[in-house]
Amino acid sequence: MNEILTFEGIRNNPEIQTYFEFTDNAFAVMGYKEHGHGHALRSAETAENILKSLGYNQREQELAKIAAYLHDIGNTVSIHSHDQSSAVMFLNIVGESLYGDEVFAIATAIGGHEDKNVDPVSTMAAALVLGDKTDVRRERIRTKNMFLIDKHSLVIAACRKAEVIVDKKESVIKLKIDIDTSICSVMDYFEIFMSRTIYCKRAANVLKCDLELYINEDKFL
Ligand SMILES: [Fe+2]
Ligand SMILES: [Fe+2]
Repeated sequence: MNEILTFEGIRNNPEIQTYFEFTDNAFAVMGYKEHGHGHALRSAETAENILKSLGYNQREQELAKIAAYLHDIGNTVSIHSHDQSSAVMFLNIVGESLYGDEVFAIATAIGGHEDKNVDPVSTMAAALVLGDKTDVRRERIRTKNMFLIDKHSLVIAACRKAEVIVDKKESVIKLKIDIDTSICSVMDYFEIFMSRTIYCKRAANVLKCDLELYINEDKFL
């Protein structure tokens, strides 16, 4: 591992890319949505952009980017408790020589990213949650046959576009989603994603912002 904990050091680590590959191949066999490098990078970039837009310093942005990039690597072991296995794998990857406040803060953020019933424990954890839970790109769905996919995947397949826009002046994080209602209804979206929406609201609040949710231009939150 690169002696300095940097996003580039993490991204260029062949061991980590192998984890993404194995995870995504296994998920493809199970029919789950994309959970490889694409989801990792999208989550990382969204987390970084949110903190950047809110005026957090570069190191805070980079640490959140690293945490969001690695948040799901534990899926290599199993989807069950993957939040915790991801954190442990991260600690193993960086190694004891780098242990310290930054490493432990990342491990805690990763380890708690599925705890939807509690507030994210730090601004880094909040940025990670928003990066992860707003990645509802339809490209992540592997089958084009809408009759064969479960409702969760169906809702994601209906999401033509999902944008995260930060308005620092108003202290608002806007999630704008464009849903193809010929595939699923707005009600279906809420049925599947209510807990995730509330979790995003908790995360926005940790960043001292409100969350606004727009679906097909209508404001729901
Ligand atoms: Fe996860
Ligand atoms: Fe994820």
